[in-house]
Amino acid sequence: MLNIKQAGKIDGRNKNIAATFDAPPVLRRRLQSNRLQTTFDCLIDSFITRKVGLSDHFLNAPLAAHLKENLTALYADRQLVPAGIGNNALLVQNQLIRSDKIYWLDRAHDDPHENSFFDLIDHFVVYLNRTCYTGITGYEFHYALYEKGSFYKKHLDQFRNNKSRAYSMIMYLNTNWQEADGGELCIHHDDHLQTIAPNNGKCVFFKSSELEHEVLLTHQPRLSITGWLKSD
Ligand code: OGA
Ligand code: MN
Repeated sequence: MLNIKQAGKIDGRNKNIAATFDAPPVLRRRLQSNRLQTTFDCLIDSFITRKVGLSDHFLNAPLAAHLKENLTALYADRQLVPAGIGNNALLVQNQLIRSDKIYWLDRAHDDPHENSFFDLIDHFVVYLNRTCYTGITGYEFHYALYEKGSFYKKHLDQFRNNKSRAYSMIMYLNTNWQEADGGELCIHHDDHLQTIAPNNGKCVFFKSSELEHEVLLTHQPRLSITGWLKSD
């Protein structure tokens, strides 16, 4: 779990995004942080107006490629395990409800790309807490792989016996995803369904206690990182 006090600060509120080419390091950091801020604002603004935050390029292409490579290697090495439903006290393995395989991420694994991913999340959490007073104090993330023919039926992400999961975040690692590949995330709003294709680098963000959702049958292996921002 993240100790928020250790997380990096985001500075720079100038929204002018200039080229980073040849910029000195201090300026480059400032420009990168402006770019991050634009990405975070896009995710948060769509969350506020439509209950589902969407950012098409939350993970940049090189980071998404490295994470996909790691996930693929872990899968080949049989490190992914069938996901359970519910938490400790209520753990029920039920392939009729979900058939994805997962691997929990941890800074202690010392993987440089996974730690870059955690750095990004740390920045996002600091930004979210500062701009929206969300009081997030930790998080948990896992890789997920849905083999061809897998799904996750309609559910809520918050456990009945533990309310600490405040926000759900899902990021996809699928290049060239086609409509015929299926595997959309389907969000059940009160009056309509919203389907979201699991395109590479995209991030989806919503309140864990509020929105029921499902993963539709996938016709291709479907890779992602899924996690929860928590307040204890
Ligand atoms: C989950 C989940 C959605 C997705 O893991 O709880 O709902 O699009 N995932 O992978
Ligand atoms: Mn879910």
